[in-house]
Amino acid sequence: MNFRFFLPVEIFFGKGKIKELSQQIKKTPILIVSDPVLKKIGIVDQVKEAIDKQCDIFDFCQVEPNPSCSTVNKGTQYAKEINAKTIIGLGGGSAIDTAKAISCLIDTSDTLQDHLFEGKSIEKRTKRLIAIPTTSGTGSEVTNVGVYTDKERGQKKPLVSEYFWPDQAFLDPKMTFTMPAKVTASTSLDAFTHAIEAYWADSSQPLSKLMSMKAMKSIIENLEKAVKDPENYEVREKLLYASLLAGISFAQTRTTILHALSFPLTNEYGLEHGFACALALPNLIVENYNYMKESMDVLIKYLDLKSVEQLSQKMHQIMKTIHAPTTLSELGVQEADIEKLANTTLSAPIASLNPKKYTKIELIKFLNKIY
Ligand SMILES: [Fe+2]
Repeated sequence: MNFRFFLPVEIFFGKGKIKELSQQIKKTPILIVSDPVLKKIGIVDQVKEAIDKQCDIFDFCQVEPNPSCSTVNKGTQYAKEINAKTIIGLGGGSAIDTAKAISCLIDTSDTLQDHLFEGKSIEKRTKRLIAIPTTSGTGSEVTNVGVYTDKERGQKKPLVSEYFWPDQAFLDPKMTFTMPAKVTASTSLDAFTHAIEAYWADSSQPLSKLMSMKAMKSIIENLEKAVKDPENYEVREKLLYASLLAGISFAQTRTTILHALSFPLTNEYGLEHGFACALALPNLIVENYNYMKESMDVLIKYLDLKSVEQLSQKMHQIMKTIHAPTTLSELGVQEADIEKLANTTLSAPIASLNPKKYTKIELIKFLNKIY
């Protein structure tokens, strides 16, 4: 056995944990980074109420799905204007990723594009960074990655930095009750792909494998229930815990070709991140099996299934039940676009961590199977 495991995030998990937030805020002003929906439905105010009344609290609630460089730069400008000392990312992965970038860029005169495209590296973070997820999927609260879209370049790219680990993550299952069924479906599939990709990645390791297995089992058992019964606390708690485990796992290993394929599917076809990650999942499970039979057999047995075909069918059935797309044609992808899709997918460095090493021709053949 030979591995490294690193997690510098203090995790608070449980019902009402948000009430302990105040004790962790040492410096103000505070900037809450969130999205317009959470502002409108009162979640931003709920967090403000959980913070000591003496604190100066501001909010920047303009984060969109697949956060853009311009939104990050605008949020950074605002954070500078109010001289923010604590940055709270409140929401799904988009809000937390935006908070990560703002908390670092505030100390510089850089734009996010300088780091994403010009090779500049982030050298420090002096502000406290706190993450409060309101979805059960991205795991961004326990990773050092942010994913951003540059609309001018038409590119979506991950940025990794040792300064992107939040100082604290507050996971309160009650905060996830506001997720509409479609968001629950998509974000849970995102978490499932984090778990299975962490499990089969070339970079996988024993501790993350353990957590991935638990996450996958829990998502299989609870996903359909959460979509049908969104206010079931026990189910929401299990999914948030599964998302946390999957997040910790892939933070150690990174993801593989499912996430590489998701970038053009979200960027060019507007598909939700989790749905985009899972689209090829049932077929990829079968193709990857041949490259890691022993390890996959352990997983299949742990999931109380009998064969890789059963695992693949199970995921396909769940995806159908929760109305997740399972073919490229459903998204409006044209057959003529498949070669470009293969090129973009293979250009993402994470694609090479997949157990089956796809050549361009093999990937085109695979994508035609899910057309
Ligand atoms: Fe993801």
